[in-house]
Amino acid sequence: MNKMMITSAVFLMSNTSVTHLPEPKFPEYAFIGRSNVGKSSLINMITSKKGLAKTSGKPGKTITINHFLINENWYLVDLPGYGFAKRSKSAREQWKKMLFDYLKRRQNLVYTFVLIDSRLEPQSNDLEFMSWLGENQLPFIIIFTKSDKLGTVKLNQHIKAYKKELLRYWEELPVSFVSSAINKTGRDEILSLIDSENKLFSDYSSSIIS
Ligand code: GTP
Ligand code: MG
Repeated sequence: MNKMMITSAVFLMSNTSVTHLPEPKFPEYAFIGRSNVGKSSLINMITSKKGLAKTSGKPGKTITINHFLINENWYLVDLPGYGFAKRSKSAREQWKKMLFDYLKRRQNLVYTFVLIDSRLEPQSNDLEFMSWLGENQLPFIIIFTKSDKLGTVKLNQHIKAYKKELLRYWEELPVSFVSSAINKTGRDEILSLIDSENKLFSDYSSSIIS
C-alpha cells in the first residue's frame, strides 16, 4: 500500500458557528460521535501528533468546531461529541444547530467519519445520527474505536452484531474501519482512503476551473 506521509499538521481555528470557517479550498474530513468515543485521540493518532487535538478522560471536552490543516492541502475537523447528558437542554439544542449547519453547508466536506465505541451495543443516538446523514445525502464512514479494549473474538462479535443492526436501516453497509489510538490500528487504511479522496477532489477542482 502506498502510504500517505504526514509532513505537517497544524491547528488552524476553533469556531462556535459556521460563519468564520477556513476557506473551503481544500478537501475536508470531519470526526463525529458520542462524547468520549475517541475523536480527538484519533486525530492525534492519525497525525502522529500527541496533544494536537485536546483529549480528556471526562466526556464533553471538545465544544467547538476545530480545524486542523494537514500537509498544507487537506483539513481534519474535530467536532464536539453528542449524547453528553450533563449538558443543559438549551446547550444541546445549540450544539445540534451548529453541527447540522456545519454538515449541511460545508461544500468541501468529503466524508464525515462517525466514530462508534466498539465495546458498546448499538446506541439509538448514533443510529439516528447516521439516518440523518443518509436523509441529507451526506456520505459517511464508520470507525469502530478503542479496539484495543476488546479481545479479537469479542471485537469481531460486536462488529458483526453492529453491522446486522445497520442492515435493518440500510440497504448496503457503509464502509467501516476499526481503530485504536493506543496501537495505531486503522491508521493506514484511514489515511489511504483520505489520500484517494484528496486526489479526486483536486481532479474535480481543476476540472471546474479549466
Ligand atoms: P469529547 O471531546 O468529549 O467529545 O471526547 P472525544 O471523542 O474527543 O474523546 P477523547 O479523544 O478525548 O478520548 C476520551 C477518552 O478515551 C480518553 O481518556 C482517551 O485516552 C480514551 N481513548 C480514546 N481513544 C482510545 C483508544 O483507541 N483506546 C483506548 N484504550 N482509549 C482511548
Ligand atoms: Mg474531543
